[in-house]
This record gives sequence, C-alpha cells and structure tokens, in this order.
Amino acid sequence: MGKLKEILIDRKICKSIWFMRQAGRYLPEFRKIRLQNQNFIKLCLNSDLSSEITLQPINRFNLDSAIIFSDILMVPYALGQEVNFIKEQGPVLEEFNKEIFLKNNKKSFTKKLQPVYEAIKKSREKLNNDKSLIGFIGAPWTLLVYMLNIKLKKNELDYDKVKSRKDEVKLILDKLNDYLCIHIENQIDAGADVIQIFDSWAGLIKSDDFSEYCIVPNSKIVDFCRKKKIPVICFPRGIGKRYKDFNNNVKPNGISIDYEIEPNWAKTNLKNVVIQGGLAPKILLGSEDKIIVNAKKYLDVFNNLPYIFNLGHGLLPETDPDKVKRLIKFYREY
Ligand code: CP3
Repeated sequence: MGKLKEILIDRKICKSIWFMRQAGRYLPEFRKIRLQNQNFIKLCLNSDLSSEITLQPINRFNLDSAIIFSDILMVPYALGQEVNFIKEQGPVLEEFNKEIFLKNNKKSFTKKLQPVYEAIKKSREKLNNDKSLIGFIGAPWTLLVYMLNIKLKKNELDYDKVKSRKDEVKLILDKLNDYLCIHIENQIDAGADVIQIFDSWAGLIKSDDFSEYCIVPNSKIVDFCRKKKIPVICFPRGIGKRYKDFNNNVKPNGISIDYEIEPNWAKTNLKNVVIQGGLAPKILLGSEDKIIVNAKKYLDVFNNLPYIFNLGHGLLPETDPDKVKRLIKFYREY
C-alpha cells in the first residue's frame, strides 16, 4: 500500500511528501515534451506521454506519490465544452450550452476520458508498490466558474451571473456531481489509490452560499469516496477561517491548507483529519536559507502528528528544480 494512503487511512504518525503541480513547466523535461505538443488537451489524452510526464518528478526526486498528469478541465471537455489554453491568459472555455450538457451519459463521458484512465494504468504499472498514485477532480463550484466563464480578474467573480442564473447553477452543480463521481470511480478502477478534490475558487463564494456551493458538493463526493474505501484529500483554497467549518462538516481524510492559513491555527482548529501542505510556492523562488526556515516551521508544528508535506498551491513555473531537490533533501533529513 502506498505510504500516503496508509497515513490517510490509519493516521499513522509519520510524514509523506509530494507537490501540487510536481509535473509541470518548471521541469525542463516537461517543457521539452510540451514544446512538441502545443495542444494541451491532446497532450492530456496521449496516454504514453501523460504517463511519462506523471513519472518525471518521481524519477527526478523520488517523491512519495505521483499525481496523474491531466487537468480538472478534462471534465468540462468530456461533457462537450471546448477548452483552450491561451498563453498568458490561462484556460478559456467555449460558451456553455445546456442542451449539449444534458445530452451526455455515463458511457460517452467515460469513452472520451479513456486515455486518462489508460495513463493511470500505465503509470501504476511503472510505480513501486510503496508509492501512491493520486487521481483528482475539480470540485463542482470550481468547474462551474470556468464553465460559465464567471471569473473576471484574478480574485474576482461576476457574482451577478451566479445570482441571476441560480436555477441553472444548481442544475449544473448537481449534474457535475454525478459525472465527477463517475470520473473518480474510473480513476480508482484504473489504479488511483488516493483522490484529491481541488476547489480552487471556493474562497470566492459568498458566505450565504458557502454551504450550498462548497460544503454540500464536497460532502457528496467525500461520502462517495468513503463508500468506495478510497481516501480523499480536500483543497478548498482561500476560504480562511471557514476551513474549520468545512472540515467539521465535510470530514475528509485529508485537508490541504493554502499559504494564508497559519500552521498553528490549523493544528488547533482542524481535528480528526490529516493536514497537508501550506508552504507558499513563492518561498521556493527565494534563497535556500529562506526555503529551509519556512519549511521547518511546518515540520515543527506538525512534528507529532501525521502530516503530508506539500505546498499551499502549485509549484510555480519559474521554480528552479534544484531548489525543489534541496527542499526534499531537507525534508528527508529532518
Ligand atoms: O502535477 C500535477 O499537479 C498534476 C496535473 C495537474 C494540472 N492541473 C496540470 C496542468 C493538476 C492536478 C491540475 C489541476 C488544476 N487545473 C487546477 C486546480 C489546482 C489549482 O491550480 O488551483 C486548476 C484550477 C486547473 C485549471 C488550469 N489548468 C489552469 C488555470 C491552467 C493554466 C494556468 C497554469 O497554471 O498554467 C492549467 C494548465 C495546466 N494544467 C498546466 C499544467 C502542467 C500548464 C500547461 C502548460 O504547459 O501551459
């Protein structure tokens, strides 16, 4: 059994390490493949290449877990919405079409994502037994933000659109829930042994809507994973003190904290859960001394607890892989 799965299930007092976006643009070996594969969705659907990319950070750093190289937006893509990744702008989705969305079914959805599941199978075959393979999804709310194109600027939403299309929002969130559970089940069947739910835009939900748009959808998915006996880590990024309420209600096996959360606050307030992450990705752009001082803070606080060492968000593309290596060395020696 992978060490990560063991920590999440048995809450053994030990540590494990992996990084969000550990397979990505900061690695020259990824950039080389990416240069030859301009269409990002097509790259995610090339099971040989996506399996190779999944294993790149494992081969380079011997991390404890691999996360499948794919994207949360593969789900809207599989549900019939065109997805384009535009340089300097991020992902742009074709206008949402309700009829197309409602025409989907389990079989067609699974068929479109078959290469992702193939990539999981191929990666699992090449991984040692002591390593976990993490499958993942975007939470319904975060996918909705992209699907309805309601993101204005970096941290601002067109919330009027959410209010004025309340019925449609509810319909989309409910349907997404069904397909996300199918996607999780397919990933497990292919060989994923831990699931992470990315709710990257949970922090932008208004307080009145927080239960309906964040707690309820995440709970349904966590309950589904529990039934499947697969441990699940939630990452409701940017929700501040609401992390406590989230954890008490959703009850995941693991909870990933972002870099705005004080580790001591998390230790005091997040109970009956394994904490993951926290270290600001920007720290890795600084000096080695600074990296180590900051990493040590997390390891000291969670010293007598099960803890999954990770960042408070994904590795930045500008990160020097040698600094990542240095951080892992420090972690191993701690
Ligand atoms: O290594 C891993 O973490 C596994 C693969 C992975 C990717 N995306 C690959 C990727 C995972 C788990 C994701 C999750 C994801 N995708 C999230 C949730 C986490 C978060 O960052 O909040 C979100 C919101 C997305 C949507 C997405 N995909 C965005 C906003 C972007 C563009 C911005 C960016 O960071 O580049 C992507 C593209 C993307 N997904 C890249 C990678 C490696 C970069 C693609 C490139 O080479 O241009």
